[in-house]
Amino acid sequence: MKIVTIIGARPQFIKSAAVSQAIIDFNTENLGETVEEIIVHTGQHYDSNMSDVFFDQMNIPKPKYHLDINGLSHGAMTGQMLEEIEKVLQTETPDWVLIYGDTNSTLAGALAASKLHIKVAHVEAGLRSFNMNMPEEVNRILTDRVSTILFCPTDSAIENLEKEGYKNLDITIVKNGDVMLDASMLFSAFAKAPSEKLPNSFLLATIHRAENTDDPNRLKGIFKALNTISEEKPIVLPLHPRTKKYIEKYNIQLSPNLFCIDPVGYLEMLFLLQNCDMVLTDSGGLQKEAFFFEKFCLTLRDETEWVELIENGFNVLVGADYNTIVDAYNEKSRSTPNFSMDLYGNGAASRIIIENLLKFTI
Ligand code: UD1
Ligand code: UDP
Repeated sequence: MKIVTIIGARPQFIKSAAVSQAIIDFNTENLGETVEEIIVHTGQHYDSNMSDVFFDQMNIPKPKYHLDINGLSHGAMTGQMLEEIEKVLQTETPDWVLIYGDTNSTLAGALAASKLHIKVAHVEAGLRSFNMNMPEEVNRILTDRVSTILFCPTDSAIENLEKEGYKNLDITIVKNGDVMLDASMLFSAFAKAPSEKLPNSFLLATIHRAENTDDPNRLKGIFKALNTISEEKPIVLPLHPRTKKYIEKYNIQLSPNLFCIDPVGYLEMLFLLQNCDMVLTDSGGLQKEAFFFEKFCLTLRDETEWVELIENGFNVLVGADYNTIVDAYNEKSRSTPNFSMDLYGNGAASRIIIENLLKFTI
């Protein structure tokens, strides 16, 4: 079985690392079938601390194709990726195209493959924020619809698809759990401290969502709240390049207790997750990782795709309003939820993907 994996943004490197490892493990077991994986890096993320570091730390096989497409408007980026991925797929003629999540790289891969009648497997399918202003929501909906098999991490993802009528479509739906849990289980023993000098006791924050960075009121509200909270407990914030750009543009002042550092590798991130007291983020992936590492999460958004975290009291939506964020921090810094709940599988999500792709390869 031949798979072309299309990745390009930071969270996709992390997710695909777990699946690439499962492919290597499967091939080592010599079960009579061999899985060949060819990796295409679209180039969407390109700084070494947004890309290379994950390939190095997580043993991701070297991409055979690097398309170097980045820094463009959504249409131009997706369009150029579509054109270049099509050429790769015509050369490689794989059984499957494997795509992850909801970025422009995901949608370009799904469109290129489906138009060539190549089967598409979408990992992290069925998630919805119900906010069509998010570029990710558009990418998810369109990607799911042209896929052949949808790997859903949660029950709510499956329910979303059912409500959209997927039962009436010739699309296979599999609940496989979360490949990010697999990744955290594979690598957490190798966690290492970032090189910067950091406080021993801290909160961990990340911000990068377009709806926060591109709106000066939202970004100012969030940073005003982080400045206030950091007076009580220092905050470590690995800064996404997009956010760095907007902090400078809006001339936002940062408290000295807000330790803004460059984006870190996955192993450093695991260290920060293991050692922080709480997570404040607008990241999709980090909301789940907070749960994996038993940390309460304040989500700096108005909605989330990971609704089970909210429903079970592990996460609260605080948006971008100063008072709401500070009040939630003051309330939740004293809470100690019991995190022993199976929401995202048991670390075998990647293996289930391989087994199903083999099963549905004709
Ligand atoms: C993208 C995804 C988002 C995902 C995020 C993960 C889309 C629509 N968005 O958002 O869903 O959560 O990745 O991090 O696909 N930049 C650099 N260096 C890099 C990468 C980006 O400087 O290595 C800067 C560039 O100025 C670029 C901007 O960040 O224009 C935004 O990058 P882009 O890939 O367009 O979107 P993200 O905000 O990273
Ligand atoms: N991450 C990382 N270094 C950082 C920030 C995040 O390794 O400096 C990891 C994080 O632990 C998670 C993933 O990147 O595994 C989340 O990606 P991101 O927040 O960029 O995207 P999203 O999940 O929101 O799509």
